[in-house]
Amino acid sequence: MEASERTDASQLIDGRWDEGSESTPNLSPSDGREIGRIARGTADDVDRAVEVAQDRARGWRRLAAGERARILTDASALLAPRADEWAAVMASEMGKPIVEARAECLRAAAILRFFAEELHRPIGDHFLSDVGESWLFTRREAVGVVGLITPWNFPAAIPAWKLAPALAFGNAVILKLASDAPATGLFLVRALVEVGLPDGVLGVVLGPGGEIGGRLVSHEGVDAISFTGSDAVGHRLIERCAHHRKRVQAEMGGHNPAIVCADANLDLAIAALTAGGFAAAGQKCTSTRRVFVDAGRYEEVCERLARSAGALRVGDASDPRTQLGPLAGRGQFEEVLGAVEQAAGEGVVLAGGGRAEGTPAKGSFLDATILAELPRDSTFATKEVFGPALSIWPVESDEEAIAFANDSSYGLAASIFTGDLDRAKRFVEEVEVGLVHVNSQTAGAEVHLPFGGSKGSSYGPHEQGRAAIEFYTQDKTVYLDG
Ligand code: UN1
Repeated sequence: MEASERTDASQLIDGRWDEGSESTPNLSPSDGREIGRIARGTADDVDRAVEVAQDRARGWRRLAAGERARILTDASALLAPRADEWAAVMASEMGKPIVEARAECLRAAAILRFFAEELHRPIGDHFLSDVGESWLFTRREAVGVVGLITPWNFPAAIPAWKLAPALAFGNAVILKLASDAPATGLFLVRALVEVGLPDGVLGVVLGPGGEIGGRLVSHEGVDAISFTGSDAVGHRLIERCAHHRKRVQAEMGGHNPAIVCADANLDLAIAALTAGGFAAAGQKCTSTRRVFVDAGRYEEVCERLARSAGALRVGDASDPRTQLGPLAGRGQFEEVLGAVEQAAGEGVVLAGGGRAEGTPAKGSFLDATILAELPRDSTFATKEVFGPALSIWPVESDEEAIAFANDSSYGLAASIFTGDLDRAKRFVEEVEVGLVHVNSQTAGAEVHLPFGGSKGSSYGPHEQGRAAIEFYTQDKTVYLDG
């Protein structure tokens, strides 16, 4: 995106773009420049969008599956060649380095394709009757109107991985895009509209999470809510959905451990820890937060990881050479900087430790930071800090490493670096997470695999892949006699 271009973000209600009666600025975290205005919707806008969605849900559900698949396939085909333009918007509005942003846009296009294909695969089960000749089977049917609340950190892929299965399985959708990155998500929406998604099947409402999300949760016309975001918001939302007897799925934080064993291939481990800790400026729920290293290799890993982190090129997100971009917003920057400064007083800073030198004053850049010798009960040891910072610890045994890895209320992703198959198997069995990696970084999600955590990281069915059927459809059991 050129500096002179602006990207405004509008709502979509009943197939019409809606500027809202007020707007807020969309600021670039690379330099603080206003890159566009964002419509500020209200609870009334949610009501209007839900009313239309309820009206259109039946027609959409009853449309031939092939036609729903066609819409997703055509939107995917339209989006993939636009990946450069799409990624430029993402880089400019939330600061993901352009190379990573582009990969995410292509991933989002692939997700649409996957869920179009999903409609060619079996759905439901067939049973034999114990007592007669009935045909017994289950159908998986659309849930109805689904509210999707998406975050700013994967502003293309996460809206895609909620929208695509929701629409494919015949649901109408109200999408609430994150205020820090709505223009990126709107690329998906425009593509779907362009290829013929019927008016009102998808509504988009923008604005403050409390008001918009709150109304989605309390509205009796919304049958289910899928949320990705912070655990503070997620936990409240889960309780409120239970109160309103609404189906809910929530993907929240992670405090993802990586274990480096005595026999690890360190070239591979250092590269994976650097990517896991600092790609997307550590703003993935799957980013590596805690590194446990065999005591015999601790010094070496600390030294090499610090060198690797220090060598990352910090800069404007739209520069293809940039490896570490800004944090997505000012609030985010202040929060992570505060936590890093506090940790620096409690332990030892092996790399980074604050604002990146030589970056624009209005930019939100932090250096890749590694913290050691922290107290076990410190913020970094116990909480998710959503930025480019990780803590590192020596361990005496695999048992100790796994016990530390599991000593968390979260359970999203974990890695182990080892050449020993028995060790790897034991880790896979004992680690309390939803996503396990052997010899690869904690982040990453292929489009056709289930994604989600255990313990406090996730609630409800997992997302993506075949797992998505569970949340976006409901079972109906059929006894069919002639
Ligand atoms: C990834 O690791 O590529 O919000 C995906 C998040 C996760 C997605 C991670 N729900 O960071």
